[in-house]
Amino acid sequence: MSETRGASRVVALVPAAGMGVRLGANAPKAFVPVGGSPMLTLAVTGLISSGCVDEVVIMVPAELVDETRALLPVSDTPVHVVPGGAERTDSVRAGLAAAPDASYVLVHDAARALTPPSLIARVVAELRAGAQAVIPALPVTDTIKSVDTAGAVTGTPDRSGLRAIQTPQGFDAELLRAAYATGTRATDDAGLVELLGATVRTVLGDPMAFKITTPLDLVLANTLVSQNNSREAVAAP
Ligand code: C5P
Repeated sequence: MSETRGASRVVALVPAAGMGVRLGANAPKAFVPVGGSPMLTLAVTGLISSGCVDEVVIMVPAELVDETRALLPVSDTPVHVVPGGAERTDSVRAGLAAAPDASYVLVHDAARALTPPSLIARVVAELRAGAQAVIPALPVTDTIKSVDTAGAVTGTPDRSGLRAIQTPQGFDAELLRAAYATGTRATDDAGLVELLGATVRTVLGDPMAFKITTPLDLVLANTLVSQNNSREAVAAP
């Protein structure tokens, strides 16, 4: 339960309705286990552990709504499961409709299953301090180039001004509703809000909030969880 709970509710929307074809698994991505627990369960546990989230809404494929309820961590924080849509934008829109009382909305990909609760708390703190939109950002380590459809390089933006963006992305709920009311589609919620001319602030992201997208990401995630589990076993009395 949020320590600052009251009139201003923080609702976390977890889009988990993607099929995750790039991961090459047999199940929709959010249901693929990492260290023995589905990514979705880990992501929701992280949100609740932050102590900043009053309610969670998960959007999953319609046929998996009941199955998802059985995967949820036991908690005092209400967690709702609703059917998502054909594209991520449709899933987030379904989540927003299921969260009419939200003052602040976090949108957090289930695929960022190992996101530290401290990062979630950082995003909420900025919102509560008055920011309208807040996203976690990390400096990029690769040089990024733009290319045309034939693969020829068209430009090399200055790397020092580029950031890789993670989730949770946090918003004043009315602003996000207004962005979604425009009907525009995007892979990034902050992108929709930028189109409205709102200022989007960044907070420092965390490498552990990486998105588990490819088979290599899954190997990394499983390794990190098993290392952490062995450290905890050694530390236990
Ligand atoms: O495909 P991508 O990795 O960008 O998906 C990001 C998140 O959006 C994933 O957690 C995925 O489950 C979710 N998603 C969704 N509904 C869709 C497509 C993707 O909730 N139709």
